[in-house]
Amino acid sequence: MKDFLSSLRELEEAGSAAINTAATAEELERVRVEYLGRKAPLTQLLRSVGRLPQDERRAAGAEANQAKSRLLERLEARAAEVVATPAEVSVELDLTLPGRSRWRGARHPCTLVTDEICEIFKELGFVRARGPEAESTWYNFTALNTPLDHPAADEQDTFYLSEDTVLRTHTSPVQARVMEKTRPPVRIVVPGVVYRRDPFDASHAPAFEQIEGLAVDEGIDFVEFKASISYFVHRFFGEDTETRFRPSFFPFTEPSAEVDVSCLLCHGEGCSACKGTGWLEIMGAGMVDPAVFDNVGYDSERYTGFAFGMGVGRITMLRYRIPDIRLLYEGDVRFLEQFA
Ligand code: PHE
Repeated sequence: MKDFLSSLRELEEAGSAAINTAATAEELERVRVEYLGRKAPLTQLLRSVGRLPQDERRAAGAEANQAKSRLLERLEARAAEVVATPAEVSVELDLTLPGRSRWRGARHPCTLVTDEICEIFKELGFVRARGPEAESTWYNFTALNTPLDHPAADEQDTFYLSEDTVLRTHTSPVQARVMEKTRPPVRIVVPGVVYRRDPFDASHAPAFEQIEGLAVDEGIDFVEFKASISYFVHRFFGEDTETRFRPSFFPFTEPSAEVDVSCLLCHGEGCSACKGTGWLEIMGAGMVDPAVFDNVGYDSERYTGFAFGMGVGRITMLRYRIPDIRLLYEGDVRFLEQFA
């Protein structure tokens, strides 16, 4: 044991001295191999612990391991010093170079807008819901009072995965899915991606995000519908933004409306963004058609409700004045960083 400990001490001292005098990374590496490598005397000494008398092994092993750790620590510290010595670094260090900034990830503007919209509806008691993107023709069309020979169900407009499965063309099927599983009252907002066979140009994309909304209860009337949508418009676009309900048609709402807001750019004067009309369309909406309630097993005599669906990309473009929808799909960090 005595011999063991004195050999250990000697090796540690020699190793320590060698580490301190190494002046470059290469020299230091040589010292590492010599004193801590597989064939180094210290390594052999550690292996010899097993040959010591049984009652001495534990203490000897501990001593040797500690010595080894101290040397490793010393080696690391010296490595840092060696790298930082001015003689080696001065060639590379040019303090006049501009700093290299890192790529920072950022939340997509559509995500920011989706969250903001859902938060506003949360104030009115709406909770978030989700549904599948590969959807049956039943939920996507039929349950929503849209016969399969309706133009919307045509192969020209819809991606069919099989005869009775499509990539959902809107988030409305989630209305039917949630109603089937939940008793009224229901208040949901449903963000999600939808798919249509559209050309990819400055204002169309074959996949885009929508937010669906549905409120069902006893006694929900057109006034509550208009008030809820107007509340959202004021909260999202600002108090002085006006809301207009234009009569329209959707198979699953009756009456149906298209909702416009006063143009955010010209405030109603007429400009290129609103094509001179002073209004921008933001969503389709209406009172839930009783036929939809019948399809999901709700008593259409007792319950009424309203629903709406809006394109997140369009609203994001309005909010941030983005001129081309394709910018939302490119994932260019230089573009995305601006919204973080
Ligand atoms: N699903 C319709 C669309 O995608 C929007 C909508 C939703 C209309 C809910 C009315 C009610 O165009």
